[in-house]
Amino acid sequence: MADEKPLVVEDKPEARKRGIWGSKAGFVLAAAGSAIGLGNIWRFPTEAANNGGAAFLVIYVACVVFIGLPVMLAELTMGRHTRRNPVGAFKKALPKSYWWLVGALGVTVGFAILSYYSVVAGWTLGYVVKSATHTFTPDADPGQVFDGFVGSWWQTLICLAVFMGLCIAVVIGGVQAGIERWSKILMPTLLVMLVLLIIRSVTLPGSSVGLSFYLEPDFSKLNMKVLVAALGQAFFSMSLGMGAMITYGSYLSKRDNLVTSATWVGMADMSIAFLAGLMVLPALAMAGITPGLEEGGAGLIFAVLPTIFSELPWQPMGGIVFGTAFFLMLMLAALTSAISLLEVVTAWLVDERKWPRKKAVAVVGGVTFLLAVPSALGCGAVGWLSHVCTLQDQQLGFLDLMDKIFGKLALTFGSLLICLVVGWFWGMGKARDEVLSGNPRFNKLARAWSFLLRYLCPVAIAIILVFLIIDPSAIR
Ligand code: TRP
Repeated sequence: MADEKPLVVEDKPEARKRGIWGSKAGFVLAAAGSAIGLGNIWRFPTEAANNGGAAFLVIYVACVVFIGLPVMLAELTMGRHTRRNPVGAFKKALPKSYWWLVGALGVTVGFAILSYYSVVAGWTLGYVVKSATHTFTPDADPGQVFDGFVGSWWQTLICLAVFMGLCIAVVIGGVQAGIERWSKILMPTLLVMLVLLIIRSVTLPGSSVGLSFYLEPDFSKLNMKVLVAALGQAFFSMSLGMGAMITYGSYLSKRDNLVTSATWVGMADMSIAFLAGLMVLPALAMAGITPGLEEGGAGLIFAVLPTIFSELPWQPMGGIVFGTAFFLMLMLAALTSAISLLEVVTAWLVDERKWPRKKAVAVVGGVTFLLAVPSALGCGAVGWLSHVCTLQDQQLGFLDLMDKIFGKLALTFGSLLICLVVGWFWGMGKARDEVLSGNPRFNKLARAWSFLLRYLCPVAIAIILVFLIIDPSAIR
């Protein structure tokens, strides 16, 4: 059949020079590295706990499959077609228009997310040291340890600086040698660690309370707020809505199958989030935190999870080894994500402003550090930064506020714009032709994708945004 003939186009020499992933597995691991991060292990269980547990989980899966995956495919397609950073991609796909502003918004949002993301990633670094030095003895109160840690300005700033330094070191190295190689080692390690921790967590006394909360859906808990949270979480966790996947897609080969790549990344991301919930919620229940009560906030994982380390067999070594390994794994997962955020801003300066890579990375890293300082100090160290506003009787620190504005609101808005641009303005025809290269059988799926991207996704996202305008407190 005519439309089944393979449509494999060779990559142009310029594209090769700019950088292309070494293999499909390399891309999938790097993109999964971007997707899987603090969003899965730190943010997902907190969101689930605050939004009805299993009911949230069900809605989350639907958001990933019907909205997240089509948007991810759209971003990858646009990236590979234009071989540019987000700003350049919109300029090239839709010349002589103002749509490049969507890319500019993306780069800005990436910058902002990177700033507070690095702060939390820095905490994981500090916790590697704390676990290794046996801070979490059976009598220690992890909540107090956490408050003491984030209340110390110098500890948080040093951890932040070291983490930023690590990101800079990897991204300076370039796409394949740095990002791809590291992801191939780190992602499997993460999975093994997570499974071991789950086994301990679900066998804790009292874990069944947490487990049934997480796994037995109570649909009476469903409301618009759960939907808002689930959709926002899906975009954050899948690294969508600001062009990170446009940028990673711009290094894809024409031979790669975009549909299977996107599906692998999305499924890996969802699975890890699910597993993280299995690990965290029973531990929360054991620590006496009743899920569903407003105990959220940035510190949840750090203030609660160490409880299970001192409950492990072969104390104290069991706890020390496990705690250290866990936070190391979390730090590395955060690193592969932060790298992708840094790469977006870097790619913009390199493609559009013709900066040398090294200069771009160093400047972006430095400015991000400065932007991160208020988030770092706003978790206890400096009073007014720790209570910048009040939302639903909850005191919000600077970091929480940044997460709400950029990590939740801006990504949802950005994803809407990406659906509209690819679905309506750039055009599904061009998008489909791009996917066909490397995937000759895409025609069968193309209609479903077109429907999702043009109708379902924008309408669903727009409803959520309108709801948020009416009731801003729904962003929790
Ligand atoms: N997805 C990552 C996580 O779950 C965070 C992240 C990396 C991200 N790149 C992004 C979020 C781009 C939004 C956009 O931890």
